[in-house]
Amino acid sequence: MQNNFVLIADFGGQYNQLIARRVRELKIYCEVVPWNKIYQEALAKKPQAIIFTGGPASVYEQNAPKVQKELFKLNIPILGICYGLQLIAQTLGGKVVSPDFKEYGKVELIKKEDTKLLNNVEEKTICWMSHRDYVETLPKDFKITALSKQCPACIIENDAKKIYGVQFHPEVAHTQAGMQILQNFLYDICNLKPTWTMGNYKENQISELKEKLKDKKVLCALSGGVDSSVAALLVHKAIGNNLTCVFVDHGLLRYKEGDDVENIFRKRFNMNLIRVNVEERFLNALKGVTDPEKKRKIIGAEFIKVFEEEAKKLGKIDYLLQGTIYPDVIESGTGTAEVIKSHHNVGGLPKNMQFKLLEPLRLLFKDEVRQLGLELGLEEDLVFRQPFPGPGLAVRCLGEITKEKLEIIQKSDFIFREEIKKHNLDRAIWQYFAFLPNIRSVGVMGDSRTYFHTIGLRAVNSLDAMTCDWAKIPYDVLDIVSQRIVREVSGVNRVIYDITSKPPATIEWE
Ligand code: XMP
Repeated sequence: MQNNFVLIADFGGQYNQLIARRVRELKIYCEVVPWNKIYQEALAKKPQAIIFTGGPASVYEQNAPKVQKELFKLNIPILGICYGLQLIAQTLGGKVVSPDFKEYGKVELIKKEDTKLLNNVEEKTICWMSHRDYVETLPKDFKITALSKQCPACIIENDAKKIYGVQFHPEVAHTQAGMQILQNFLYDICNLKPTWTMGNYKENQISELKEKLKDKKVLCALSGGVDSSVAALLVHKAIGNNLTCVFVDHGLLRYKEGDDVENIFRKRFNMNLIRVNVEERFLNALKGVTDPEKKRKIIGAEFIKVFEEEAKKLGKIDYLLQGTIYPDVIESGTGTAEVIKSHHNVGGLPKNMQFKLLEPLRLLFKDEVRQLGLELGLEEDLVFRQPFPGPGLAVRCLGEITKEKLEIIQKSDFIFREEIKKHNLDRAIWQYFAFLPNIRSVGVMGDSRTYFHTIGLRAVNSLDAMTCDWAKIPYDVLDIVSQRIVREVSGVNRVIYDITSKPPATIEWE
């Protein structure tokens, strides 16, 4: 892997993760490093190519991110994107200025010359621009090979030194020739081979983990979510029973979920799984509590206590396995995201427990984690499952949490999920579930008056959970779900559908 890969220097632009995604789509392994570490990383890791991302600064500002001039003497091909292009120009003696014009959005790119970088690119093509500055004077030995109506230097090249800059964003889907240009750079100019596949990655990771973990003991808090499941299975393939998974079944899971997790990991994959059944303990701790934040705190604290008790029984543990993934690691571009997330993930584990962290998915994007899960033999239902909150159904059960209310949610939620799947909507909706708003209302069933619970249905589409739209589920499907719930779940006489987006609402009800 080490001799066929790309380093991406992160200058803080909004599309940086997308660049890494595109390079991996071209089946080439890449890593993103903060801009101030690129020189040392390039020296140490010797990549076949370097890409500079865009960024919000102007290269002529005093504190703008810079790179050492020596980086250009390592004979590694470089492609600069937007800020990256301007940085190349300025560092090598050109001049970058802020012109009267600004280009944002779709702009026509006009090819001036046929070059390796522009092979198979149309004479005129649409590209995505987002810049305030442009290269007014070229550095020595560079030429312009494409322009736009307003910007005279949209692509600059020094083919002999293999240094290139593009003013637009080839990684954005609106840039028609974006993938072609990236491919030209990586395959034809840098001679990289498209060998990065999940199958290869899996095999490499397993042998690296075998080597690293030899006689070490690893502990994992398995939740049944995608990331922790894939991480656990990967490590299990490498070290077998030296991995112990603790699955805390706090009774706040979905219908039969505890049994499913046990069946998959203990029975099918033969993993060393400890299922701790602590439903009663959690229900007791939550008795009489109605405040949402208090509930969360109780659940978090109780979870840690249970986990700690189990860990103590196991004796010496060397590593704690975590399902941290790449977006968590690179989201800030400053290298600090890593630290914040690790602390966050460990979630206040007791200070006297001395583990090292093991994060085997930390270089993978979410869809790559799913691919890896499939490679490892996990079933599609688990690999493509929707997000589920740590405190489980507690955030969907308003008011006091009781066994009776939890069962009503579980059964209603099961029916909702079953119908969504039956109607082929499960991959089209980001998150969908039933909740209990703690309202009883009058109804009539047969000839009798009822005074039963209301069940709420929530289904949303989102990219990152920060905002969401409510999902426009066909009325016919909602109708079937509603009829089934009042018929099959005793204690429910009314079903409502939440049609609020986030903001102003949130996805969960608590
Ligand atoms: P909200 O309700 O804040 O939810 O719009 C956004 C996303 O986060 C999930 N969620 C949680 N996940 N612990 C978690 O691990 C929590 O306390 C929690 N609260 C909400 C929620 O399911 C949605 O995907």
